[in-house]
Amino acid sequence: MSTPFSDRAPAYRDRLGAVVERCLPADDHYPARLHAAMRYSVDGGKRLRALLVYAAGEVLGLPPEALDAPAAAVELIHAYSLVHDDLPAMDDDDLRRGRATTHIAYDEATAILVGDALQALAFEVLAADSATAAAPTQRLRMVALLAEAAGSRGMVGGQAVDLESEGLDLNLAELEALHIHKTGALIRACLRMACAAASAASPDQIDALDRYGKCIGLAFQIQDDILDIESNAATLGKSIGKDEAQGKSTYPSVMGLPAARERAESLFSQARAALEVFGAAAAPLLFLADLIQGRDH
Ligand code: IPE
Ligand code: IPE
Ligand code: MG
Ligand code: MG
Ligand code: MG
Repeated sequence: MSTPFSDRAPAYRDRLGAVVERCLPADDHYPARLHAAMRYSVDGGKRLRALLVYAAGEVLGLPPEALDAPAAAVELIHAYSLVHDDLPAMDDDDLRRGRATTHIAYDEATAILVGDALQALAFEVLAADSATAAAPTQRLRMVALLAEAAGSRGMVGGQAVDLESEGLDLNLAELEALHIHKTGALIRACLRMACAAASAASPDQIDALDRYGKCIGLAFQIQDDILDIESNAATLGKSIGKDEAQGKSTYPSVMGLPAARERAESLFSQARAALEVFGAAAAPLLFLADLIQGRDH
């Protein structure tokens, strides 16, 4: 690829939007209200997880057609995780992606069902999206990777510990484990699913992408903790100051803001260093490390 990934990122976002659109049942499809609420919940967002899938695919020499299903599936799981995260029983938020959270725009029961349905749809897309160029064995591997990352040993497990830790002072090791589960696992799965789509990826390349994904995943949640303190609702599209108000342990609360910033920076450096094995071909993922490191929302 001669043009930089930054030039192609908008097209990948559009591509992801089109894949999601073709996978989501129409708004008037029975039951219409649930399908409208699902579309509402998936709309918007930075689509960073899909970009990680497509960029890792480029690094491994894959065409985008091989990555449409995992890119859409991870965004569907992510959207479901946000809908449930915002519920009154969890973080009780009323603003997400610059507009009302799903349980406010619809109702609580609908928001629970939207999450349930988006999760099922993610696995249906991985297993059966006929426009994606992936062999059955590759699809099966992606299903297993995403299921592990989304479930009790991944995102849902992290969410459980996040909630049971409210009001407690976690130490750094406990907090790191929490962040690696609730946010890191899904981000790491983006890289792992791209590897599953690439039959020719070597063990060195798979290991390098896994280390990159692990560092970016943890850094991402450290940044989220920092933005909750430093940003504002208009920029972030979600309410701020919630972590402190809800007694959550965060990187800034445990180590202070300057050290939290340094920790995130060091993880981004480690993520970039992990890509050395790819030489110049690493450019798409180096670009995403810069994009994520510089994000303000
Ligand atoms: C927010 O993720 C939730 C976390 C895991 C920190 P993003 O910041 O990627 O949210 P969207 O998809 O852009 O809305
Ligand atoms: C959420 O972490 C991680 C998820 C699995 C959704 P947060 O609760 O900090 O995410 P925001 O700040 O609400 O987006
Ligand atoms: Mg939360
Ligand atoms: Mg939250
Ligand atoms: Mg947060």
